[in-house]
Amino acid sequence: MKKILVWSIYTRVFHLLAMVLMLGVYLSRDEDRWLSIHASLGYAIGVLFLGRVVWGFLDIPYSTFKDFSFNIVDLKAYMLAIFGAKKSYIGHNPASSYAIIGMMVLLFLSIVTGALAYGAQEGMGIASFLNHTWFAKMKLFKEVHEFFANALMFLIFAHIAGALLDRVLHSKLILRSMVDGYKEGDGKSVRLSIFQKFFGFFWLGAAVAALIYLLASPNSLLLADNNPRVDYAKVHPAFAKECGSCHMLYPPFLLPKASWDEMMGSLENHFGDDASLDSQTAQSIKAFLEDNGAENSTKEAAVYMLSHLKNDTMPHSITQTSFWKKRHHGIEKVALNDPKIGKISNCKACHPMIEQGSINDRDIKG
Ligand code: HEC
Ligand code: HEC
Repeated sequence: MKKILVWSIYTRVFHLLAMVLMLGVYLSRDEDRWLSIHASLGYAIGVLFLGRVVWGFLDIPYSTFKDFSFNIVDLKAYMLAIFGAKKSYIGHNPASSYAIIGMMVLLFLSIVTGALAYGAQEGMGIASFLNHTWFAKMKLFKEVHEFFANALMFLIFAHIAGALLDRVLHSKLILRSMVDGYKEGDGKSVRLSIFQKFFGFFWLGAAVAALIYLLASPNSLLLADNNPRVDYAKVHPAFAKECGSCHMLYPPFLLPKASWDEMMGSLENHFGDDASLDSQTAQSIKAFLEDNGAENSTKEAAVYMLSHLKNDTMPHSITQTSFWKKRHHGIEKVALNDPKIGKISNCKACHPMIEQGSINDRDIKG
């Protein structure tokens, strides 16, 4: 048997980029602060795979979809023979053919649902309009996205496990072919036309350019923050002045109506301080807080806080809600030890836009 070039440099760089970007998108999935990076990586992977789909129609030997083997009988035989001598495939074997198509489908579903969840939950990106209409279902959007993303990760792990098993049981060359492109077999080496080379270059360049562009442009269409900033001093001057005099201004959507009612009814003993106001001002602030309380907000913090409320007796403060505690687990110590933060109720030390009504994930410091 002779050595033949099966994977062109473009296919190999594609595979390497896919691995690196996937790892990045996987590692950034849980950390709120990295959400914009997570989204940028997701879109860049989308560009990468879109190019791969076109690549599959360019008649490039071993990479063209025509050369994939989708025969179920072959797949069965391949899987059953995994520990024995098996038919060797020069291009994609039946298991990897299915895995690749599965990955492409799940990837597109993950990206689309990711964009929708980003809109519904955060009010950001191209689907931010969903935050005004479907905000109550934001958790569902997120869960559907996680479902597809987890299915994709499962398939990727299976694909990696398959490749490693192949390496152990069969030939060293299979894994090496990812790097140098060569396999042993009887076929012909790949030769690309000028057009195919040009496309390959454009394709991989576009994916990298998309990533760099998105990381550098937080206000681009796909990532833009479409949550309006609120100038409370204009919207309700008395609230901003009175309630911002001893501590930072807490936006009304951070507590439910009942909590504001209770707080406004006991201002003379407000966390040990006397914060009492003349009754007209108090009435007006109370009405404002109620109108803009968690129940009337589309904000992620409000929706999640309310959904956690069944575990709470009526909260007297924001830092008492179980939602808040869950998100800040372990952070209290950090805050106490940092003189610039001082106390944990000094939200703006870590959420710089909070007094303008915005707690964006990507703004979080600390
Ligand atoms: C006289 C000073 C003073 C004034 C005026 C005042 N507060 Fe407070 N407030 C405090 C203190 C002290 C605390 C408890 C310590 C802390 O968390 O900073 C507190 C805590 C809070 C908390 C809880 C923060 C947490 O930890 O979850 C909220 C919400 C709050 N105040 C809202 C208001 C509102 C609304 C007004 C206006 C009606 C107001 N405050 C006016 C002194 C004041
Ligand atoms: C010492 C820094 C720090 C302080 C102080 C702080 N936070 Fe946070 N907050 C964080 C971090 C870090 C996260 C992200 C946690 C995570 O990744 O899930 C977060 C997350 C949140 C979230 C969830 C954001 C989202 O989109 O899911 C809300 C809401 C929030 N904080 C509100 C507050 C409020 C209100 C206060 C003040 C009472 C406060 N935080 C004080 C650091 C802080």
